[in-house]
Amino acid sequence: MYISQSLEGKKILITGGAGFIGSTLAFYFQTYHPKAQVVVVDKFRSGEVFPSGNLTSLGHFKNLLGFKGRVVCADINDADAMHKLFEEKFDYVFHQAAISDTTVMNQELVMRTNHDSFIEILKLTLQKGGKMIYASSAGTYGNSPAPNMIGYGESPENVYGFSKLCMDESIRSIIAQNQDAHIVGLRFFNVYGEREFYKGKTASMILQLGLQAMHHKKVRLFKYGEQKRDFVYIQDVVQANVKAMEAKKSGIYNVGSGEARCFNDIVGRLKHHLGDFDVEYIDNPYTFYQNHTEADISLSKEFLDYQPRFSLEQGIDLYIDEIKTIYAREQKCL
Ligand SMILES: NC(=O)c1ccc[n+]([C@@H]2O[C@H](COP(=O)([O-])OP(=O)(O)OC[C@H]3O[C@@H](n4cnc5c(N)ncnc54)[C@H](O)[C@@H]3O)[C@@H](O)[C@H]2O)c1
Repeated sequence: MYISQSLEGKKILITGGAGFIGSTLAFYFQTYHPKAQVVVVDKFRSGEVFPSGNLTSLGHFKNLLGFKGRVVCADINDADAMHKLFEEKFDYVFHQAAISDTTVMNQELVMRTNHDSFIEILKLTLQKGGKMIYASSAGTYGNSPAPNMIGYGESPENVYGFSKLCMDESIRSIIAQNQDAHIVGLRFFNVYGEREFYKGKTASMILQLGLQAMHHKKVRLFKYGEQKRDFVYIQDVVQANVKAMEAKKSGIYNVGSGEARCFNDIVGRLKHHLGDFDVEYIDNPYTFYQNHTEADISLSKEFLDYQPRFSLEQGIDLYIDEIKTIYAREQKCL
């Protein structure tokens, strides 16, 4: 699926492979390219928390239940561990490991983890002739007017978005100096779908609203639910990553559905599946809040052959059974 080449004998490293997107990629390769050798590296969760109460790393072993490849527990900030890992050559590196929590204020840690360690891993990958596909973010655009286009309005509002923009800026100059390098940065928009549960409070609005609706017969939205986001289903994110292996051109690409949808649209589709529930509109306490994100995916279509397959409705339709299962599990624990 998505690429024609056989990956038989190819070695693939997925950093952050115990997280939402990384583990989904690991299972994609296991299912569709069983002869590829997949290695996952992740720090996993330790119970350590940020001042917000959110965990410092969100990887969970349960995301990897059934995964048959090699699992390495290591911190990407540990240079010795990374050098040891890269004693072998990886043909492809999917770099997903990051502090993915956009509310983290520790700028030193976010920059070191998201940017500096990425650059080290990139160097190790390229030294051995490997190809790099890494996770950037729509957070690089901050609150710039939509549609969001690569190279325009890149003005992050938090250190997370800044760290991702620094990754992109660094690779822009590395690509300029090394035309043969295969480096593809993917700016994911709001990703949702199976395996995101362990992200807790940082999981998508689709999961949060679905669970609120089932637990309380009511959801809360900032007035009046018309804020728009580009919600992209996890399987489209997998498609973009896999197609990036055969990108026609190194560079940075948006990965969204290409369409902005509002929170009321999520509520509408959830009601279709769960029946009626109340919506309480509350004041938005944030002075900064993104009111409209929308990925311009023209370059992704042209150079990655990326073609999103799932509308918001189709994504929720596929995801709803898992949301119901999570709810049932939570009910049992109450
Ligand atoms: N999910 C989204 O909506 C979204 C949007 C834009 C960008 N992204 C980016 O995509 C990537 C994957 O995101 P995700 O949603 O799967 O998040 P996630 O938090 O579920 O996955 C990140 C993984 O990285 C691991 N990790 C964190 N710090 C580490 C370290 N120092 N060493 C080793 N492993 C470490 C975590 O344990 C976790 O398993 C991240 O880079 C994120 O910034 C995600």
